[in-house]
Amino acid sequence: MSLLKLLIFHPILMLSAFTGTAHGYYTYTMYDCVYSTSDYSDMVYLNSYSFNQVVDLQFNSSVGKYVGYTEQGVKFAENFNKDPAIMQQQKAEVDRFCRHNAQIWDSAVRDKSVKPKITLRSARQAGGSRPAVLVCSAYEFYPKKIKVSWLRDGKEMTSDVTSTMEMADGNWFYQIHSELEYTPKSGEKISCMVEHASFSKPMITDWDPSLPEGERNKIAIGASGLVLGIIIAAAGLIYYKKKSAGRILVPN
Ligand SMILES: *[C@@H]1O[C@H](CO)[C@@H](O)[C@H](O)[C@H]1NC(C)=O
Repeated sequence: MSLLKLLIFHPILMLSAFTGTAHGYYTYTMYDCVYSTSDYSDMVYLNSYSFNQVVDLQFNSSVGKYVGYTEQGVKFAENFNKDPAIMQQQKAEVDRFCRHNAQIWDSAVRDKSVKPKITLRSARQAGGSRPAVLVCSAYEFYPKKIKVSWLRDGKEMTSDVTSTMEMADGNWFYQIHSELEYTPKSGEKISCMVEHASFSKPMITDWDPSLPEGERNKIAIGASGLVLGIIIAAAGLIYYKKKSAGRILVPN
């Protein structure tokens, strides 16, 4: 057991020895590695000590020292920060523990990730005082963790996102659907941003307010049908006119 663990466990062991188990005191230590880039350049190592549900102190590798959050925690932080052996060890953890393990975990999970297929469609057009509804969906991705957000002119929107649901397809793949209810303004750009381990950077899909392809195709098919109808009708009319004109020429 390291000196660090000895220091933190000692008072807690004492406490439980005096209070027994009936009160259910609970202590835990967390070691977190937080990162979102594939080169681990943004890796942050956190070491937090909690008693009951309160975090007493935490080492954050970006800060480079322990910070206490409770009266007890402040004392512990002070002592830890004074100890060069502890500080040297904690400062090394971002490489020794986080980057090292992230490589192992990623080769097992992230490198087997599957990119989501993203669609952005209109579920309801704006009309009168009724806002428009857009749906951004991501299909068949792995692993489960994903973030779907909405941007208006590049800035994240939070207030108008009505629902986000994530579902398991039951075959290791997942899908997610996020709805945005908004009042369109001319000249603005609405985008759906998807963040997933399979992407090296967030995937941004811009909303094209002109008619979607399906609608354009329907209009094109309808228009072609109309033109064809007019041609046939005109041909029929000409044929009829010619025939009836011919009939007049034939004496009865
Ligand atoms: C770690 O510290 C940095 C720098 O102060 C801060 O931006 C970041 O939010 C901290 N991380 C956590 C999880 O507290």
